[in-house]
Amino acid sequence: PVLVVDFGAQYAQLIARRVREASVYSEIVPHTMSVAEMLAKDPAAIILSGGPSSVYAEGAPGIDAAVFEAGVPVLGICYGFQVMAQALGGSVGRTGTREYGSTPASVDPGSCLFAGAPVEQTVWMSHGDAVEAAPAGFTVTAFTAQTPVAAFEAPQRRLFGLQWHPEVLHTAHGQRALETFLRVGAGIPATWTPGSIIDEQVERIRAQVGDAHVICGLSGGVDSSVAAALVHRAVGDQLTCIFVDHGLLRAGEREQVEHDYAEGMGIRVITVDESERFLAALAGVTEPETKRKIIGREFIRSFEAAQRRVVEEVGAAGGQIRFLVQGTLYPDVVESGGGEGAANIKSHHNVGGLPEDLDFALVEPLRALFKDEVRAIGRELGVPDKIVARQPFPGPGLGIRVIGEVTAENLRVLRAADAVVREELTAAGLDDQIWQCPVVLLADVRSVGVQGDGRTYGHPVVLRPVSSEDAMTADWTRLPYEVLARISTRITNTVPEVNRVVLDCTSKPPGTIEWE
Ligand code: XMP
Repeated sequence: PVLVVDFGAQYAQLIARRVREASVYSEIVPHTMSVAEMLAKDPAAIILSGGPSSVYAEGAPGIDAAVFEAGVPVLGICYGFQVMAQALGGSVGRTGTREYGSTPASVDPGSCLFAGAPVEQTVWMSHGDAVEAAPAGFTVTAFTAQTPVAAFEAPQRRLFGLQWHPEVLHTAHGQRALETFLRVGAGIPATWTPGSIIDEQVERIRAQVGDAHVICGLSGGVDSSVAAALVHRAVGDQLTCIFVDHGLLRAGEREQVEHDYAEGMGIRVITVDESERFLAALAGVTEPETKRKIIGREFIRSFEAAQRRVVEEVGAAGGQIRFLVQGTLYPDVVESGGGEGAANIKSHHNVGGLPEDLDFALVEPLRALFKDEVRAIGRELGVPDKIVARQPFPGPGLGIRVIGEVTAENLRVLRAADAVVREELTAAGLDDQIWQCPVVLLADVRSVGVQGDGRTYGHPVVLRPVSSEDAMTADWTRLPYEVLARISTRITNTVPEVNRVVLDCTSKPPGTIEWE
């Protein structure tokens, strides 16, 4: 693998993704990992990420200079660039001038990293310190108005550094520089492709489960669907999917999931209708975390019951199914593995995340993958596009979109409003432009309106259209006014309980995408 050494501040994930976009497998490792442990992974290259620290601050994370002597190609980025300069005998100083944001840079087209690239480039900078002198034996290959040493390299030693962030889209030729590092600087071929990932996973799944039966909890979302498709490719009819209808689904959703799987993918799905159980458990509850916990708990019970049904239907050795497929993704692994400072903002993964005492061996074929890779292999596996391109929908469903008590009546009202929104967004061709658009019913709030000749005293619904790359951050989508107007008119005309449609124009942070 290419190891991306994480110096903090979320840059590492993006770098790891960009490396994979260049068809090279990458893994994120913490900066606390020893160089010996890194080398034990037999890395094809090492990339040192950016980070929030100053290299000469007390306790600043660094790296043992041995990493530069191991013959492994290294690229230092931003903070990693400064760490590299310092470790190799260059100097880093506080320049006084801060460079932040889009910055014009001049690069040396005769260098290894920028060979053939435009001389004038716009790059994304974010630094207060700067490399003042490159280490001996290194050539300076770029500068900006403020930063005389903005990139350097020693190509014979396969060591490279960039002050700017090649991984962000604001850097015009960033991906090109990364690819040049991987291909030319480090000599790594482009072999990490959807086809190769599928082949490798199919082998692994077969080796893991043998001829045992496997179950998969299906939400209808991209991750569990692609995981199921991959396992189905590997072991065919040994797979049964379980779809728990918790009564918190959107209009038509259950029918669609059942249809798409059985007809579209030929996968056996058992649906269990547990809506009564969930509604009863949610009665009287308004507090968001309590709702989430209840939904999570009831989900597990439903799943256990369904599992017994599968055993009856397919028969399983020892009357028990031992393997459970989960659509865990690499960011989940990184975020829970790091363990440093990731505050529990909301109890995600409660739903679908089954407890450990459920005595299953997990089959997690997507554990090494990012979302865009999951979509790519889904397409390669022939998963219908409407599933692969599906927008996210939270496990707790409409339960966390009714603000107030989750009752059958509130769900009915929200479902009706939500169906209008989805129809109109699709009709306007906007599905690709938005990440998702939660519709939220403020069941606890009432407002006065007038309709026909009469006063109404109804509820508002909130539209929450967001644009995002990974749901970690998001901006509110500027939907066309005509579309908003149509949605508003249709909802208030057809859903009598709703007399106001409002727009949530908050980014994340400070808002989250869902309201609860
Ligand atoms: P927030 O509200 O945290 O949402 O900004 C980020 C993304 O996660 C989805 N979401 C969930 N997905 N189980 C899920 O499977 C959950 O409990 C859950 N809560 C939020 C949300 O729809 C958005 O895409």
